[in-house]
Amino acid sequence: MSTLTLPEEAARRRTFAIIAHPDAGKTTLTEHILLAGGAIRAAGAVRARGENRRARSDWMKIEKERGISVTASVMTFEHDGKMFNLLDTPGHEDFSEDTYRTLTAADCAIMVLDAAKGIEPQTLKLFEVCRLRDIPIITFINKLDREAQDPMTLLDDIASRLQLDPSPIWWPAESGNRLRGMAQLGTGTFQPYARKTAGSDEDPDHPAALPLSDAAAHFEGSEQADLAEALELVEAGYKPFDRQAFLEGHMTPVLWGSALRHFGIDELLKAIGDWAPAPKTMKARKEAPPETRNAPAPEDVVVEPGKDEVTGFVFKVQANMDPNHRDRIAMFRMASGSFKRGMKLKVQNTGKQLSVNAPIMFFASDRELAEDAYAGDVIGIPNHGVLRVGDSLSESGMIRFAGLPNFAPEILQRVRVKDPLKAKHLKKALEGLAEEGVTQLFRPELGSDFIVGAVGQLQFEVMADRLGEEYGLEVIFEHSPYAEARWISGEKADLEDFASKYRPQMAVDIDQNPVFLAKSSWETGYVGERFPKIAFLKTKERG
Ligand code: G4P
Repeated sequence: MSTLTLPEEAARRRTFAIIAHPDAGKTTLTEHILLAGGAIRAAGAVRARGENRRARSDWMKIEKERGISVTASVMTFEHDGKMFNLLDTPGHEDFSEDTYRTLTAADCAIMVLDAAKGIEPQTLKLFEVCRLRDIPIITFINKLDREAQDPMTLLDDIASRLQLDPSPIWWPAESGNRLRGMAQLGTGTFQPYARKTAGSDEDPDHPAALPLSDAAAHFEGSEQADLAEALELVEAGYKPFDRQAFLEGHMTPVLWGSALRHFGIDELLKAIGDWAPAPKTMKARKEAPPETRNAPAPEDVVVEPGKDEVTGFVFKVQANMDPNHRDRIAMFRMASGSFKRGMKLKVQNTGKQLSVNAPIMFFASDRELAEDAYAGDVIGIPNHGVLRVGDSLSESGMIRFAGLPNFAPEILQRVRVKDPLKAKHLKKALEGLAEEGVTQLFRPELGSDFIVGAVGQLQFEVMADRLGEEYGLEVIFEHSPYAEARWISGEKADLEDFASKYRPQMAVDIDQNPVFLAKSSWETGYVGERFPKIAFLKTKERG
């Protein structure tokens, strides 16, 4: 039982995600952060995933072993008086929608750059998502043990391409075979780097930090003087770290290291603990569930993390470990309150109530029953399809968080089951996967086909695989006549008029919201001009 007050518990949470272009070292860094945080004892546990994930077929196999991906969605550990929740973001770009949703649950992001490559395409995309959601970013420049780009070039790239002020906290002394260590700006401290000796399997511990002026033994030739000179330039040339500017998204502190050689990791963890924000006050609406009698008028409210009522939202739903059971685990990010196991929570958007008797906390390699949890924490709530991505849960059932988007899919296909007798099963299975957010499902108003939408091709493969494995259904995806899907909104009479003219292209999504299926982007533009009173939307915010 905690002796801290509720606001103190909330204030010591750090919920963050790592964003990186594939191969920059996200998996390796995750593992070494867990090592530094004392959550795992040896390297290797997380690494296996990274390796498997690289090959698509292996990755599918790993996905099938649901337990691993569920466990890895979030990893919680306590270190130095703080509780860290590390959220896993899928690496493959076909899953950008999933990544986007996961980032809605993070308060801070670690942007990993490969020191030889700098900013890469996927780094940019993920960065944009963070910017959109006002998520502050700590930069970690990885792979210093390999030949790196000039450090100033790397920082200038951050400044010009991301419009973000880089504030170096440390400065590397060389890289690759000549990597000597790194110096902390403004303190005169030097952290030496210890190289693995030839023939040894183990990485040596890096020596303790010492004043740069006493560190001659770690340098060769003029290197020590060169570093001192570089530091002077750097200290004059870049803005000193300003936490407020960082929290507001104008500045990123820059740290350096080698995830693989466990260099710079303690410093990174300390930066997260010291600087990453505690859970923020969130905007919400206080609104009775639909169909409540005599419901009070909805009002805008702010949810303080240290307030008593448990509130939060579901940002991800995953199938359970055992594919024979249909139950799912909803990943619930708490926004406020003190959660106790056995508590009853209500879903705002449906009015349904559930007793949370077996909530799961994810501690690195183990899953444990969560006895209590606070703002910033993520708990897994097993359920039978009651909880969906975007659902808001609270004790009163009156708090609603908005802002979890569905994106208009970029590929639309028709799906058929090979055995026509199983058509009914297919409907249930497709709905199940759509509820999890694996793919989107559209049911045209006319006919009995289903149209499945995805952001990337890989989603269809995962879907086909899971339909076979979990539901015993062999399916065929076929070309559909549609190129785009748009959610439509407007006055009832206008919508009815539009729908009557375009009946064959009207459909509903899983929440029964009307959707227009366009045959081309030209057609989307055309109907947009012809029906100016109707909004054709590319995203739909759930919740
Ligand atoms: P990702 O999750 O971002 O895709 O990257 P991951 O951690 O899987 O790392 C990608 C590759 O980069 C791996 O090498 C990994 O060992 C290597 N790597 C990560 N951090 C560092 C580092 O600090 N220094 C060096 N030198 N390499 C690093 P690989 O050859 O693809 O795999 P493996 O055979 O080494 O396992």
